[in-house]
Amino acid sequence: MKVAVTRKIPRVGIDVLEDAGFEVVGNPTERLLTGVELQNFVKGADGILCLIIDRITKEVIDAAGGNLKIIANYGVGYDNIDFEYAKSKGVMVTNTPSELSSRAVAEFTIGLIFAVLKRIVEGDEFCRRGDMGGWKPEIFLGMNLEGRTLGIVGLGRIGCLVAKIAKAFGLRVVYTKRNRDLEAEKEFGLEYMSFENLLRESDIVSLHVPLTNETRRMINQRTLELMKDTAFLINTSRGGVVDEAALVEYLKKGKLSGAALDVYEYEPEINPELCGLPNVVITPHIASSVQEVRDDMAIMAAKNIVEALNGRTPPNLVNR
Ligand code: DGY
Repeated sequence: MKVAVTRKIPRVGIDVLEDAGFEVVGNPTERLLTGVELQNFVKGADGILCLIIDRITKEVIDAAGGNLKIIANYGVGYDNIDFEYAKSKGVMVTNTPSELSSRAVAEFTIGLIFAVLKRIVEGDEFCRRGDMGGWKPEIFLGMNLEGRTLGIVGLGRIGCLVAKIAKAFGLRVVYTKRNRDLEAEKEFGLEYMSFENLLRESDIVSLHVPLTNETRRMINQRTLELMKDTAFLINTSRGGVVDEAALVEYLKKGKLSGAALDVYEYEPEINPELCGLPNVVITPHIASSVQEVRDDMAIMAAKNIVEALNGRTPPNLVNR
């Protein structure tokens, strides 16, 4: 059976597929395939192992043909795949909700909070420019975390870990979620509130929701207006959750203190205005970029394919 792997992934994942006896076909280019190239590439595949930046559309699914049984995404988010259409065709879609990955993203989120509140990146740039000049009492004034309110939007695996770590720094942690999580409230000492109240109360708002029709641009003119002028926005989820133009506008008019972003609405494009704002920390979608995480994701994606192509239910099926 043939498995089409759209981009280079850690070797450990390919080993799992080859050890299971599959023919593994890799993308011969060093780049992302265009839609048409992708359609040609997946022709006749029984399984597709793709990245979160591959758009797996109806056309790609149809081009693969009748043998296709599984699309295994190398990533937790799977908004790049038309999973409903896949389901209608009897094609399974899986993701890689690796515990190591959740930990990496949670730690990175905390890192971004520190970076933007303590103005670490601005200070670094200042020194590299040769502007250091000597100690001064009032340059790059930052903020302490203790006693501030962190609002977590989406209390899934990553949100829970962020909450747990944040509590250790003395933050008050509030959250919003479709279904209230009494257990997590008790375990981590969290307070539940509506999305709107969370925006009103929080000094730092951190986004941890998947990108769906419901969450697309949930941070927009209306919701930014509810936030404190002194608040910070952190996004390590998906760029599409934020209306980037509105965010730029609010940052520019001082209606928000700062933002730290790892993901962008029109990724890989980054709104150039964001790059010009000193109170914004921008990183290139690297929150889970840790070698063990990448290996774990490769093994998980490959195992999902092995299970599916052997007629079993893969462990991380998302379009049940
Ligand atoms: C994911 O897993 O969805 C991340 O965004 C990429 O590692």
